[in-house]
Amino acid sequence: MQDVRMTGQHKRVFIRTYGCQMNVYDSDRMADVLRPLGYALADAPDQADLVVLNTCHIREHASEKVYSELGRLRDVKRDRRAEGRDLTIAVAGCVAQAEGEEIVKRQPAVDIVVGPQSYHRLPELLAEAERKAALLRNGKRLPGAGVLDTDFPAESKFDHLPAPLGVRAGSAFLSIQEGCDKFCTFCVVPYTRGAEYSRPVAAVLAEARQLVAAGAIEITLLGQNVNAYHGEAADGSTWGLARLIREIAGIDGVARLRYTTSHPRDMDDELIAVHGEVPQLMPYLHLPVQSGSDRILEAMNRRHGRDLFLGLVDRLRAARPDLALSSDFIVGFPGESDADFDDTMRLIEQVGFASAFSFKYSRRPGTPGAALTDQLPESVKAARLAALQALLGRQARDFNVSKAGTTTPVLFAEAGRKPGQIIGKTPWLQSVYVEGNPRLIGRIVDVHLTEGHANSLAGRIVTGSYEAAA
Ligand code: SAH
Ligand code: SF4
Ligand code: F3S
Repeated sequence: MQDVRMTGQHKRVFIRTYGCQMNVYDSDRMADVLRPLGYALADAPDQADLVVLNTCHIREHASEKVYSELGRLRDVKRDRRAEGRDLTIAVAGCVAQAEGEEIVKRQPAVDIVVGPQSYHRLPELLAEAERKAALLRNGKRLPGAGVLDTDFPAESKFDHLPAPLGVRAGSAFLSIQEGCDKFCTFCVVPYTRGAEYSRPVAAVLAEARQLVAAGAIEITLLGQNVNAYHGEAADGSTWGLARLIREIAGIDGVARLRYTTSHPRDMDDELIAVHGEVPQLMPYLHLPVQSGSDRILEAMNRRHGRDLFLGLVDRLRAARPDLALSSDFIVGFPGESDADFDDTMRLIEQVGFASAFSFKYSRRPGTPGAALTDQLPESVKAARLAALQALLGRQARDFNVSKAGTTTPVLFAEAGRKPGQIIGKTPWLQSVYVEGNPRLIGRIVDVHLTEGHANSLAGRIVTGSYEAAA
């Protein structure tokens, strides 16, 4: 039998991910960094030696959730110590970046605070935290608790991270762009993720090939502003997202491509054209608009008006008639009048969205929006959000119902809650529930969609296609 103690095996890490897909990707990469240190993934915090909270700062309640989770972890740590064991607590992600030392002040049980650009340094930070813990156990007084790294290093973390292993049921994320220079007045991302950065073309293509070799048939290209991508190619030229999509679609084995999140200002002609020309690019686009009022869009510093957005929708649908659109909306931005809100409702009616995320404006410290004096009462925001979500909910249901009766390829992702049930995604990112063999997870199979509901569809596997895939 192999002596695994020597290699530091048997350690377990639990990573809880909040926020956007960039964080989902980063959590996988943190697991990749920790694996060579002997860390396997735990299913729950109480089975772990190390807990990492990969946090989100986007809205107030997102940050507050982190502190309540940290309170619970402090109790676990205290109980462990009473038994002579320990629990290392690390805070990563955007709250780590934005609040840094404040986190340790508010919750001294935290051992490590690491910003999104420094994950490759986790092994060093862990070693430092262990040294500190040992000194404290020996009764040493230390100038401050916690090990912090929230610098924006000159070098990209991508140059130091190991090869990714994060392929789940045939799907993988590939981060191609980070940070944001847009400075919408409500948003913390430019402060928590830093300046806009595009990974070089060669690095992206190499990672795409690795993912395909590891079993990915669907790749989602990620970035805070993914369509602002401008990566340097080997010949010194600059590639935009459209060119990158064409190239990745050419890799043998890539059946589905998606990208998220986009900014309307960065939807250029070539990218629109690609939607009609590259069959692997799925007919679904998440394009946040935030508001339908020019006045509010201006106050948000979105740098696009209502007409620019509507014009894009027309051109995208001309390029790809079955394109489904999704978006983000904020209601109750400071100064939003009833008329402004009506403009948003009219825009939604005009476009027709297949799905959407919508939020009450949340004041984020340090952003220009937080300093505006005409903040709206909670009751107004709540009423507007309810009306907006009712409309978007009806549109999502209508979209799902419109697909009932058709046959479409579905990529199966996981087992359902009911025995014998599996769940997959249509090209339009709708969830489909069917009775099927779990062996189909990770494969694309034709499904006859039978019923459309508010959040999903029911379907039946088309027999010939099942046999082809099985
Ligand atoms: N980069 C993307 C979105 C990033 S954040 C874009 O440019 O649109 C995801 C969503 O969170 C945003 O689209 C916005 O709708 C919402 N959001 C961001 N900050 C917010 C705030 N302070 N209050 C409420 N919603 C917010
Ligand atoms: Fe935030 Fe605006 Fe940048 Fe999107 S474009 S990440 S909303 S600042
Ligand atoms: Fe949240 Fe940071 Fe993403 S603030 S939405 S985790 S970029």
